[in-house]
Amino acid sequence: MPGKVAIIGAGNVGATVALAVAQQDIVSEVVLLDIKEGVAEGKALDIWESGPVHGFATKVWGVTNDYSAVEGAQLVVITSGVPRRPGMSRDDLVRTNAKIVKEVTERVVAVAPDAILLVVSNPLDVMTYTAWKVSGFEPERVVGMAGVLDVARYRTFIAEAVGVSPEDVQAMLMGGHGDSMVPLPRYTTVCGVPVTEFLDEETIQKIVERTRFGGGEIVNYLGVSAWYAPGASVALMVEAIIKDKRRFLPACAYVRGEYGIQDLYMGVPVILGGQGVERVVELKLSEDELRQVHASAEHVRRVLRVVQEMGII
Ligand code: NAI
Ligand code: 2OP
Repeated sequence: MPGKVAIIGAGNVGATVALAVAQQDIVSEVVLLDIKEGVAEGKALDIWESGPVHGFATKVWGVTNDYSAVEGAQLVVITSGVPRRPGMSRDDLVRTNAKIVKEVTERVVAVAPDAILLVVSNPLDVMTYTAWKVSGFEPERVVGMAGVLDVARYRTFIAEAVGVSPEDVQAMLMGGHGDSMVPLPRYTTVCGVPVTEFLDEETIQKIVERTRFGGGEIVNYLGVSAWYAPGASVALMVEAIIKDKRRFLPACAYVRGEYGIQDLYMGVPVILGGQGVERVVELKLSEDELRQVHASAEHVRRVLRVVQEMGII
């Protein structure tokens, strides 16, 4: 079981990812890195010591801002940055997080030039674009996590309304990781049976709306953003890459003409495997679905311009 996954940022999401990946027992090492003295070391040690109980052999260790620990990582997860607070949108984080993601990406690339980058920091689509530009990597090796989380929220709400196990709900979702995301009821099934066989249009639309604001719903309860479902969603993508599973899932990937959109990172259906994004899949969308995807892409582009005007990329 060789292999190393590095996680930058040992906050709520980073530490949750470290535990979830360790529990998968698919790599020999998980390294956590944070700028706050002792935080990554302490959380990593705590997680590693749960190994005998959980039954994993992965060594989990942490460092304070020492990038030599990232050397040799096949996959680097970037969670460093500030999370949002009540009243903030993900886009309000752009100026602070763009600087952090730029610096972190430069330092990661210097020691792990062959790694795949999996970006989590918000605003997600724009931070993934930033990491890609700064890295100089081919776009297939830079991917962002949002769709797996957003569609997990959607599947949870659909499953509750239908009265089935969430694992029996399959769905696809597109667009940017924001309130303009586009859940796709036409591509939602309960084990292959269209969701419209179970739920009326009004119920589905309410679930679509709840999904769009799913991140904010948690911020309103906690005063800070979510980490359990995000951490689990990142770990699923880590497993897809490390085990070369070729999973078909929504991810933030580089589009170059697909869906009529050029030069942008945004949520699209992809096949994710050992090489990163192996393919962006073009679904046949209705006129209305395509209009919503384009509106979401325009939103992402507006936020991207802020980073471009800052001179970061
Ligand atoms: P957090 O505040 O708990 O953790 C962030 C960590 O990053 C802190 O420990 C901080 O010290 C560290 N950090 C800051 N600058 C750094 C640097 N230059 N180098 C290394 N570490 C640095 O925040 P949380 O909840 O873990 O969220 C992290 C990011 O992920 C936020 O931007 C949040 O909005 C985003 N997020 C994205 C999701 C998605 O679906 N893509 C889901 C959940 C969170
Ligand atoms: C979420 O959707 C914060 O983007 C994160 O929970």
